[in-house]
Amino acid sequence: MSHTTKKRLTVGISGASGSVLALELLKSLKEMPEWETHLVISKGGVRTLEHETHVTESQLTDYATRVYDREDVGANIASGTFVTEGMVIVPCSMKTVAGVCHGYSDNLLLRAADVTIKERRKLVMIARETPLSPIHLRNMLSLAESGVVVMPPMLTYYNHPQSIADATNHIVGKILHEFGIEGKNFKRWGTDECVTPLRALS
Ligand SMILES: Cc1cc2nc3c(=O)[nH]c(=O)nc-3n(C[C@H](O)[C@H](O)[C@H](O)COP(=O)(O)O)c2cc1C
Repeated sequence: MSHTTKKRLTVGISGASGSVLALELLKSLKEMPEWETHLVISKGGVRTLEHETHVTESQLTDYATRVYDREDVGANIASGTFVTEGMVIVPCSMKTVAGVCHGYSDNLLLRAADVTIKERRKLVMIARETPLSPIHLRNMLSLAESGVVVMPPMLTYYNHPQSIADATNHIVGKILHEFGIEGKNFKRWGTDECVTPLRALS
């Protein structure tokens, strides 16, 4: 049994492009008092975060309930006895895809993902690379066959995004949906809100 009434989500940030997706996800969850976020960022994740955003590693404590040292493979989230609703790796590099696929848990992010799978909890991987090699595709197929939700951060046009913020918000909404959470301004197909077609780009 959990010792908290709050729902916990483990969040891993690895070194693929798209670290803003993690920041927006964490910001959304921070507004939900019933959720706690337990964050670990890989070395590659720090490099991309600091390249792509104005947020530094030390500022991540403003975004998550708790931030863990990636080398601390004995932290809470490394154990199945620490109850969570699951884990999301956002964005997820092909190196981290390979590590999770092969159970090669040499940092806390990989260990937490391994634990999520062994405990039969939901693991969502926002796997990002393009183009994808046969190695990447084979690893992702193997993960999907183990019950992992492999969700590349694909652009979506049917909801008429007007900006990168809209496109980002849609992917964050898809991640939240996996954990039964309705994202703010998430436009679902079949609602009347999608009424502004994209302007021609040229
Ligand atoms: C700016 C930048 C962008 C990168 N984007 C990607 C990417 O989209 N996908 C990917 O698999 N690797 C990408 N990489 C390479 C990974 O960061 C690198 O393979 C790293 O070792 C991954 O380690 P990690 O999974 O432990 O974070 C990128 C690296 C940099 C510096």
